[in-house]
Amino acid sequence: MCGIVGFTGNRNASSVLLDGLKKLEYRGYDSAGIAVSGEQGIQMDKTCGAINKLVEKTNDGATLEGKAGIGHTRWATHGAPTDENAHPHLNKDESFAIVHNGIIENYSQLREELREFGYEFQSETDTEVIVHLLDHYYTGDFRIAVMKTIARLEGSYALGVLCAEHPGEIYAVRENAPLILGVGVEENYFASDVTALVANTKNVIYLEDGQFAHITADDISVFNAVGSQVEANITRIAWDIEAAEKGGYDHFMLKEIIEQPNAIKATIEPRIQNDEIVLDDLAFGANELKKINKIVITACGSAYYAGCQGKYIIEELCKIPVEMDLASELRYRNPLIDENTLLIAVSQSGETADTIAAMKECKARGATVLSIVNVVGSTIAKLSDYVIYTWAGPEIAVATTKGYTTQVATIDLLAVYMAKQLETISDERYVELIHSIRQMPALVQRSIDLNTNIHEVAKQYAQKDSIFFIGRYSDYAVSLEGSLKLKEISYIHSEAYPAGELKHGTIALIEDERLVIALACHERLFDKMMSNIKEVKARGACVLGVALEDNREIFKEADHVIAVPNIDPLFVPIAEIIPLQLFSYYVALENGCDIDKPKNLAKSVTVE
Ligand code: M6R
Repeated sequence: MCGIVGFTGNRNASSVLLDGLKKLEYRGYDSAGIAVSGEQGIQMDKTCGAINKLVEKTNDGATLEGKAGIGHTRWATHGAPTDENAHPHLNKDESFAIVHNGIIENYSQLREELREFGYEFQSETDTEVIVHLLDHYYTGDFRIAVMKTIARLEGSYALGVLCAEHPGEIYAVRENAPLILGVGVEENYFASDVTALVANTKNVIYLEDGQFAHITADDISVFNAVGSQVEANITRIAWDIEAAEKGGYDHFMLKEIIEQPNAIKATIEPRIQNDEIVLDDLAFGANELKKINKIVITACGSAYYAGCQGKYIIEELCKIPVEMDLASELRYRNPLIDENTLLIAVSQSGETADTIAAMKECKARGATVLSIVNVVGSTIAKLSDYVIYTWAGPEIAVATTKGYTTQVATIDLLAVYMAKQLETISDERYVELIHSIRQMPALVQRSIDLNTNIHEVAKQYAQKDSIFFIGRYSDYAVSLEGSLKLKEISYIHSEAYPAGELKHGTIALIEDERLVIALACHERLFDKMMSNIKEVKARGACVLGVALEDNREIFKEADHVIAVPNIDPLFVPIAEIIPLQLFSYYVALENGCDIDKPKNLAKSVTVE
């Protein structure tokens, strides 16, 4: 989705902006542009299509001269992906330029009002009203114009603003959209995502909603909505630029799959101290937990599927009913949620619009909100009563892998922690579970090592036009994630079904050579799964079985077998998803798909 960057310093801004925009490409976009302010006033160039087109058009930025500038990648919402609709937008005399990430909800009304004042619009965007408002309110004081403008806006916005009469200065504004300031030496930056900053600086300021910043080469001043200066805390980013680079891998997705043992280690290791789970970030213990009579888990996409794993383990260990609720549905229901409900919101990016709306709805009804988030300082983290960060590091591929498994690992930690607090498990079981959690990184590594032939297996099935996944209990939730992974990067139609549901309709679609991936990693359900496998084989399907590594039975029916290391049944999902991620990756590779940036998808879905 849209991304913004800004720079001011003592060198040409354009190349810094173009580099920053390249780092935001992974978020998904359809046009890009930059504007700089310098001795010639404001100069701007933009184009639909890839950033490389903009690089060529501007001769790597050389055609635009100025030491302060703003840049944008646009993912079209209001208006088609055309040059006119691309950002930055300028006012009539080109004295202001703005970039915007978010949606201005009252733009129609503002448009009418501005038309009455004689303003003409060049684009179909909601954004363009902002630049005309700046023009309308400007009487020589840049800050006053910015403040008056933002007072008129409703909706979500992260803005970067340039004014020709104030070269070297930028205003950056945040309201319900991510915006981070980068603190450099004799130069400063802003961006919607730390990945665009970290090559230049690891010192950042997370702006709060309602705050805006005045940025020059030597200073950053942060103000609240009424214009009073507030203290800005500098935080150090915990990872290096290499973490956001491919590091020799062909794709970010493959790198991120292989990184999972380390990512999971980073999630769990600091939280197990002296054989106890320590969730420093969670200041509620037994008394608060005992008041909770229902847990609702909300999220979208893969984060929702990570939450589905949470339902099994939390109900099993904590004996609290858990409801799963897709955020896009929850937000428009009349949910039965009150002050005895714990809402767990799961999100890699921390910026997913539906999840944010669902959280707000539940908060308003009195729920305690705990979020499981990867991106530090994100909107979801800020909105929550409690946050547990997954510490997965930057995830660049649109299809989540380490984001998902670290969410599952975090939920596992949380479930065991809560069960201990609630005394719903014995001390012996607690020790056993902690032992298994500690083994997770090694078992995930084993899951990678066990399946060295997965590329070959994927090659055999890469031409299928429809692939079914079946499983029972938590294998079913893994099937959902496995199927999503496959369809989003390879564009192959795929469905995931609870195996027992097949004969209630879906089995009609099973025919000769149809591939069914059957997940059968739970010993107590294995015979049931074998019956389901026989059912689909009898109708001509090929079966790719997924089973624990010492299971020999599966070979009797499956055409190929994917092995999963032995682990406590509660933690099987985290090891089981790894070969399915690899399978999807290699199927997409065989089909020549754009694996890291699948068509139509964005990394962080900041609009409804
Ligand atoms: O950033 P979030 O975890 O909130 O994102 C939720 C979904 O949009 C995300 O998981 C999406 O389904 C991924 N593309 C799946 O790979």
